[in-house]
Amino acid sequence: MNLTDVINKMSLRNKIEQLSQFRLTRDDFEEMKDKLKNECIGSFILADSATAGNAELKPLTREQINEIQKVAMENHGIPLLFGHDVIHGHKICMPIPLALSASFNPELVENSYKYIAEECRNDGINWSFAPMLDLCRDPRWGRIIECPGEDPYLGEKMAEAVVKGFQGDDDKINIAACAKHFVGYGTAEGGRDYHRGEISEYTLRNYYLRAFDSAVKNGVATVMNSFNEINGIPNVCNKHLLTDVLRGEMGFDGFVISDWAAIEQLTNNGIAEDKQKAAELCLDAGIDMDMVDCCYYDNLEKSVEEGKISIKTIDEAVMRILSVKEKMGLFENPYFETVEYSKEKHRQISKELATESIVLLKNNNNTLPLDKNQKICVMGQMANDKRAVLGSWSLDCDINETVTIYDGIKSRAENTFYFDCSIPKDRTLEDTYDTDVVIVVIGESDKITGEANSIASIELSDEHKHLIKCAKKLNKKVIGILSFGRPRAFESVIDDFDALLYAWHGGSQIGNAIGDILFGDSCPSGKLPITFPRMTGQIPIYYNCTATGKGVDGYYNKILSHPNYWDTESSPLFPFGFGLSYTQFEYGQINVQQSVISLEEIKEGKTFDLSINIKNTGDFSAKEVVQCYIKDCLASMVRPQRELKLFEKVMIQKDKSQTVTFRIGAEQLGFYNSQGKYIIEKGDFRVYIGSDCLANNYVTISIK
Ligand code: BGC
Repeated sequence: MNLTDVINKMSLRNKIEQLSQFRLTRDDFEEMKDKLKNECIGSFILADSATAGNAELKPLTREQINEIQKVAMENHGIPLLFGHDVIHGHKICMPIPLALSASFNPELVENSYKYIAEECRNDGINWSFAPMLDLCRDPRWGRIIECPGEDPYLGEKMAEAVVKGFQGDDDKINIAACAKHFVGYGTAEGGRDYHRGEISEYTLRNYYLRAFDSAVKNGVATVMNSFNEINGIPNVCNKHLLTDVLRGEMGFDGFVISDWAAIEQLTNNGIAEDKQKAAELCLDAGIDMDMVDCCYYDNLEKSVEEGKISIKTIDEAVMRILSVKEKMGLFENPYFETVEYSKEKHRQISKELATESIVLLKNNNNTLPLDKNQKICVMGQMANDKRAVLGSWSLDCDINETVTIYDGIKSRAENTFYFDCSIPKDRTLEDTYDTDVVIVVIGESDKITGEANSIASIELSDEHKHLIKCAKKLNKKVIGILSFGRPRAFESVIDDFDALLYAWHGGSQIGNAIGDILFGDSCPSGKLPITFPRMTGQIPIYYNCTATGKGVDGYYNKILSHPNYWDTESSPLFPFGFGLSYTQFEYGQINVQQSVISLEEIKEGKTFDLSINIKNTGDFSAKEVVQCYIKDCLASMVRPQRELKLFEKVMIQKDKSQTVTFRIGAEQLGFYNSQGKYIIEKGDFRVYIGSDCLANNYVTISIK
């Protein structure tokens, strides 16, 4: 199809309509159908509220969507995109994205998004507003649940997985993905949603842009701006970022959509005097499609007449949108067919992901796994909750699919009962309840996570603490299952638990995943994708920070001469990459074939090849995430104490060993300097390989 011909035949009015997105629900179906008779709208968002993550939906059927597509095709011949926030599942819910990162299993994540894509197409969705790639170091921020965590490399891997999963491997894009929110939304000060952030060029490129870069390299079709302002410029009108960096440097060739009514919001923060000005600023900056606020739709004709926007700028934006539609094959086949998919397979992968994302934080004296014949007392309302465990952005998901934590336990161990902490007046706790072990499930509502749902304190609530106290009174071993959307601070109660599992908001199959892990049918293999602070006041705390110049080990600010704080330890409660197993892995020595390579050779593609042998010396066959971190020992800028550069999740049978190899080259050894240039410098590098970011097994390699 010659898209230039298509554009040449379009009127200015039609072109502007093509740059506009309207909302579409059951309520406005007829009105929108009528509208399409005359207007060449670019896309619909299948939602009617700005906080779609927690608002009730009024979905249309696939037949209705085909009907509306037919009107567009018959009247203009340009297919519509139907966008929706499918963040971590559509009908069957996967764990929240932060938990998906905890699985450290991008392959499994990619497969799950292939399944999610099947559910989407079956419901008339061909564009999903995911993956969310905002690097985040602040658990107070509600949207942390949607993000890949604190590490740029993990973010890159998750970006690749979701984009490939949605868009598919063929040349033709299956479901268009949308990398959001470009960029630095996770820096919102104090974790207050939508608030400003400050990011230097150095930090932007070495941390915040990297997951987006990976999405672009993997062909992501669309990008969405972030609401907030960085360094004084709202991202929705930041031409440097949207055009120079995203398109120019990163080579993005899809189109950019504004976030919900973000263009109009420029009139609130004093950047634009009216919506026309706002529209002009954003189109010029590089926003191609306007989400729902009609700033383009109502104003751009006038802007062209007044010579403020050129037809060329409009045509370029239209071209980018039509090119994506063409890559999706929509001109030939704009309609949705029934997709026969296996619910059972979707359940299975949801269970696998939930299992692999659960992190074992503590297991004193091998409390876990449990014996199925024991008497088990389960406490805490969260154990019976079907909604909160799905997390935010899951309202399309079928709540009847949720296997609760209690059901997951009960279905495996008959002698399980639920105890709600109420003791008959004339009895004592011990008389009333005869049990071998207590499982206390605590968590948070999905309603205090997600968009516009931040919290000021991440410490556990009094209610949580009361429940734990009550569990302790039974004088038996206490196992904690924590089901939260974000890291929470629980240092004050950690000694109350004999074993502790962090289960996140784990999706439809959380109960089965917990059940398998508790009784040893699966071995925990999740690792923390983000640092867990001891208390709110430590935020931000992240593993890839730099050292200070005080002759101290700045790594997690473990100051040798004086503490960071007098009222708490400097280290986090749990470090990035941490997670126990039921088995033990013994890491051998790191072997490196050639430990000195010249800078020229590195630039030409030569690599340091490292290998390490890992032995499973315990009683369980299990998966291990082998993590490779690098510390750049001498550089022209202060470099992080260490950075995750590669990882591999491997299954190692008990009593067996496995060799893992890592290839380290230009991609792992350089960094962006303060001028935004990627440089590789001569010097020594320490390569650590181990089971979390505190690994102390290292070799030194040098670039001469
Ligand atoms: C959110 C986006 C979302 C959009 C559409 C906005 O409020 O920030 O992440 O894709 O709404 O629902």
